[in-house]
Amino acid sequence: MKAINVGLLGIGTVGGGTFTVLKRNAEEITRRAGRPIEISIVADRNLDLARQVTGGACKVTDDAFAVVSDPNVDIVVELIGGYGVAKDLVMKAIENGKHVVTANKALLATHGNEIFAAAQKKGVIVAFEAAVAGGIPIIKALREGLSANRIEWVAGIINGTTNFILSEMRDKGLSFADVLKEAQRLGYAEADPTFDVEGVDAAHKLTIMSAIAFGIPMSFDKAHVEGITKLDAIDIKYAEQLGYRIKLLGVTKRTPEGVELRVHPTLIPEKRLIANVEGAMNAVLVKGDAVGATLYYGKGAGAEPTASAVIADLVDVTRLHTSDPEHRVPHLAFQPDAVVDLPI
Ligand code: HSE
Repeated sequence: MKAINVGLLGIGTVGGGTFTVLKRNAEEITRRAGRPIEISIVADRNLDLARQVTGGACKVTDDAFAVVSDPNVDIVVELIGGYGVAKDLVMKAIENGKHVVTANKALLATHGNEIFAAAQKKGVIVAFEAAVAGGIPIIKALREGLSANRIEWVAGIINGTTNFILSEMRDKGLSFADVLKEAQRLGYAEADPTFDVEGVDAAHKLTIMSAIAFGIPMSFDKAHVEGITKLDAIDIKYAEQLGYRIKLLGVTKRTPEGVELRVHPTLIPEKRLIANVEGAMNAVLVKGDAVGATLYYGKGAGAEPTASAVIADLVDVTRLHTSDPEHRVPHLAFQPDAVVDLPI
């Protein structure tokens, strides 16, 4: 069976996780995608790291532009981050007719309108489940699961680093600076952690959700953005005494004036489910007119949770957008011999 060839740009935390999960769950992933998905080439500035992570299973290079122009590559996975070279690579991949899977929320929130227009013109897909809330399939929920609804609002804890910091400050009385260091050590924080603590990362993710929920262009520049750097341990303590938890929330909703986007610390009554989302977890609430309020919860960062989203996009793109009718699979791909008669 002919494999889909993936060119992976960036073998950091998420790249490594993608490599591991693709290998470990190859059988299930192949069944769902209709054919094997193989990373055929990895580009990273650190060739030693790339060789170490891939263990000789595929080619490695330090020339990412060669990967996006490689005729053998069907899908480019961009895990470099930022808006500089990552943008040039994504645009080049699109120009070369490659589908793109990216976890790059900063890139999409700021240049997504241009990128999606280019992809549409070229007839390729830019998939980005991993860009928002790590392993929680919130993009697919908004776009597919809730597609019958008029979305009224979306609100969520969409930055694991700040939620981890706020939780640790409350539970252990630790200082902001100490907890930030720990979040960086655990691999939750962005390369530039000011994006996390100033609310910018959350605003990037909110911008993307807002665009899907309300069918508007990416509007990052219209968002109100406020982080957690002005919060002291005493604020958290007082909030607790009054029966509240402080959470950094991203909220986007319809208003008579248009769609509102805002990220800021919020007091939430402690009995609410979302007030009890602790550590580096994420949670997103979506209110649709038909379905009512729905809640999505899970790991918002880390190697394998984010890889889970990257690979889900690889499966989708392979299943739905690669022109190989022989390998098309039905919407529900099942194994007949996996059905068991449960004694209930
Ligand atoms: N820095 C991000 C966070 C990583 O803490 O949520 C996942 O996008």
